Amino acid sequence: MIEILPSILAADFARLGEHIAQAERGGLNMLHLDVMDGHFAPNFSIGIPVIESVRKATKLALDVHLMIEDADRYAPMFIAAGADCVSVHQEACPHLDRTLRLIQSEGARAGAVLNPATPLGTLEHVLPIVDFVLLMSVNPGFGGQKLIPYALDKARSLREWRDREGWTFAIEIDGGVTLDNVSSVAEAGVDWIVAGSSVFGKPDPAQAVRDLRETAQRAVAGRA
Ligand code: DX5
Ligand code: ZN
Repeated sequence: MIEILPSILAADFARLGEHIAQAERGGLNMLHLDVMDGHFAPNFSIGIPVIESVRKATKLALDVHLMIEDADRYAPMFIAAGADCVSVHQEACPHLDRTLRLIQSEGARAGAVLNPATPLGTLEHVLPIVDFVLLMSVNPGFGGQKLIPYALDKARSLREWRDREGWTFAIEIDGGVTLDNVSSVAEAGVDWIVAGSSVFGKPDPAQAVRDLRETAQRAVAGRA
């Protein structure tokens, strides 16, 4: 079952609760929240107070994507604020194994993230312990960018690798997903699809969620 995760980066922050409720009517389980520190990612977005407010506004699982340095220091605070899933970048975590285990020990699901240019092999030794892997299909920092096609080759290879080894982590993709390319994204074997502009940039976010999910499901219908 493929999940669509709307990214609130593309929402209107002055009407965030309303915008989330609109998307939720499309039938969702998870919401994606991008945290940027102006160092690792060349932008600022949201922090702990916004996660706390969103936590009160919805029962959806909150998937917090940390594009920050010093994740060991901040991840526990995001979990205390209500994050259910926390992902950290391989490129920003010198002690990735420790960071992932810390997230799990604080009670959240731990994800490892790779930028488009970072090889899958850099995660080899943590794949048996992660709850999910997030493959960036754009360079971090901004919504509304174009999907980098080779990210789908990475997704395909990771899916094959996971299935060969019998691992159970979910594969997530983030950046540039649209109704036009969501079939190819789904065919590449991902489980969780993040969509910002393609949900909150549309006049009817609920319908946008339904369209993305149905198109993605149709693309993989009949797959073993
Ligand atoms: C980029 C963020 C993405 C972004 C996706 O740094 O990680 O989650 O919100 O936005 P779209 O779907 O518009 O590319
Ligand atoms: Zn993200």
